[in-house]
Amino acid sequence: MKKFVIYGGKKLKGKVKVSGSKNATLPIMAACILADGQSVISDIPLVQDIKTMGKLLEVLGATVEYQDKNIKITPDTIKNYKAPYELVKTMRASIYVLGPLLTKYGQAIVSMPGGCAIGLRPIDLHLKGLEKLGASIKIEHGYIIAKSKKLKGNTIVLDKVSLGATINIMLAATLASGTTIIKNASKEPEVVDTINFLNSIGADIQGAGTDTLIIKGVRNLKGSQGYSVIPDRIEAATLITAAIITKGDVFVYGFKPEHLTLFFEKLKESGAKFKLENSGVHIFPYKSRLKGIDVITEPYPGFPTDIQAQWMALMTVASGRTIIKETIWENRFMHALELARMGADIKIDGNTAIITGVKKLTGANVMASDLRASAALIIAGLTAEGITEVRRIYHLDRGYENLYQKLASLGAKIDVMDESII
Ligand code: UD1
Repeated sequence: MKKFVIYGGKKLKGKVKVSGSKNATLPIMAACILADGQSVISDIPLVQDIKTMGKLLEVLGATVEYQDKNIKITPDTIKNYKAPYELVKTMRASIYVLGPLLTKYGQAIVSMPGGCAIGLRPIDLHLKGLEKLGASIKIEHGYIIAKSKKLKGNTIVLDKVSLGATINIMLAATLASGTTIIKNASKEPEVVDTINFLNSIGADIQGAGTDTLIIKGVRNLKGSQGYSVIPDRIEAATLITAAIITKGDVFVYGFKPEHLTLFFEKLKESGAKFKLENSGVHIFPYKSRLKGIDVITEPYPGFPTDIQAQWMALMTVASGRTIIKETIWENRFMHALELARMGADIKIDGNTAIITGVKKLTGANVMASDLRASAALIIAGLTAEGITEVRRIYHLDRGYENLYQKLASLGAKIDVMDESII
């Protein structure tokens, strides 16, 4: 296993481009199952989760080809409807194949995803929604076994805003008969991108970006000659936070600032210096400390849970007290204990973290617990005095494309070493 050895205190400088969105590419890849014929998806990030979804589609019988930043998916040879435990356990987004398999082939067997480091991660809303469309579902031996004749449109009110359930139900509804209405749907840009892709291949979905989606079922969908996925707003926020914590001078570009409106509001309140452009942001150095600014994670357009850990890292060295409330995942503060090893002052009370800013962090050995926690520890390491070793960085490969190279190109001093070497 690899670890990052970070020599803290280098101000980042230069420009860096954001990659395509992992969280948009994954549902779009699953949506390709619905089409008749090949789809070409462009600007994808070559990260582990994408390869895992590619592998899953291959296991189902699809043909998957990678070419630079493109992926070509031909679903016509799918003959297997089972998503095995071995793949689902490594990537929860595997559950996205449930809706498409069921609606197109009338059957699907998908391993139950189970919990993970950040929380229980239930899928009851996915299953209830599919049942409302007419599926019969049972759970046996750790697998969801779903069957149906032709699914039939219905009105589904989600108990809670769920990105995953919105996607799964919507994917199933595209080929159902009649109209499906999803109320209290997710408004996340990744859902909007999936809808734009689906509409580009012949689906009829209205209401993208609002809490009500109206999906008129169609007979079939054609493949796509080329669809570019949106840039990764979470990667953008991660790079921006890294630049700011080092008081760097960096242009982060190739993303949509409007996907990060609240994040930029919070940065402004904290006193960070930056200038927004159409598709990027200039981060400027600042002299004094940032001010501690509270955030509450909420569904889009609220503050993203996927930036909570990075925000916490930034706030550890801000002045005053910051309160971070995590409302999406019940166990998403694992990075707090590791940040404390670097000198951060953080108290956890249920889903609330109370951070009292310190003047500086000091390098330490720390352990990453999940994808975004890894990013937070690296951000902290970039500003800490001395050397920070971040272990279990394999989590990063799941969702950040070339993060090491990108940070190094901005002047960060990081060695990637074998964990066994002390
Ligand atoms: C969530 C985030 C997404 C983030 C991802 C990984 C939201 C709305 N979604 O997406 O931005 O990229 O985690 O960190 O912020 N829930 C149920 N039953 C279900 C499904 C979900 O109770 O069947 C609950 C979850 O426990 C959670 C909330 O709904 O509290 C949102 O979950 P959901 O959006 O489905 O999770 P992801 O799709 O993983």
